Amino acid sequence: MRRHAPATLRNREPILDVLRAVLPKQGRVLEVASGSGEHAVHFARALPGLDWQPSDPDRDACASIAAWREAEPCPNLHAPFELDAASPADWPVAKAEALVCINMVHISPWEATLGLFAGAQRVLEEGAPVVLYGPYRRGDRVLEPSNAAFDLDLKRRDPRWGLREVEAVRAEALARGFVLEREVEMPANNLCLVFRKQLKPDPA
Ligand SMILES: C[S@@+](CC[C@H](N)C(=O)[O-])C[C@H]1O[C@@H](n2cnc3c(N)ncnc32)[C@H](O)[C@@H]1O
Repeated sequence: MRRHAPATLRNREPILDVLRAVLPKQGRVLEVASGSGEHAVHFARALPGLDWQPSDPDRDACASIAAWREAEPCPNLHAPFELDAASPADWPVAKAEALVCINMVHISPWEATLGLFAGAQRVLEEGAPVVLYGPYRRGDRVLEPSNAAFDLDLKRRDPRWGLREVEAVRAEALARGFVLEREVEMPANNLCLVFRKQLKPDPA
């Protein structure tokens, strides 16, 4: 039942460094696309002031998250729920203080990223962060060979998948009221993109 994604052991500490820097000290973090649940266990334990809410649209992934939670209990790690980023109107959450999404944007149809920001706009307060992690394309920079091969492989598996342009994600986020605040270089040619919900302008 418990799945193991080997990459989580390699990337969890660098991601945690970013999370420590940008997440609030308290409140609920909605994790979208939690996958095996190993990140959720690790981050909930490392950030005890936060309520960590894992989710995934895949039933087996939710079962794996639940099994990790049972094996390594942590008081601030909540039971997973099914959540499809592409259907933001159906998200089973009304409010969160932050949203974290690791390795989903390139491995789902673009609608999932559109829905992610539409949902974030609905559930997050002004000033709240959205943290994305994964490989991206950047402007006219040539893709690193490992990312170029990964992109081809993704597109072979599903033509709707593939590495996204940071600029396209930034534009979509902005349309939903989120500003790209930080772009952090991560090991193995990945990036953390940290967005923050803009304050509403004062009425004139
Ligand atoms: C490569 S796995 C990453 C899992 C985990 N975050 C990690 O880094 O190990 C991609 C995950 O995205 C999830 N996913 C795919 N489409 C999604 C969607 N529309 N909404 C939310 N999650 C989605 C999959 O179910 C899967 O668990």
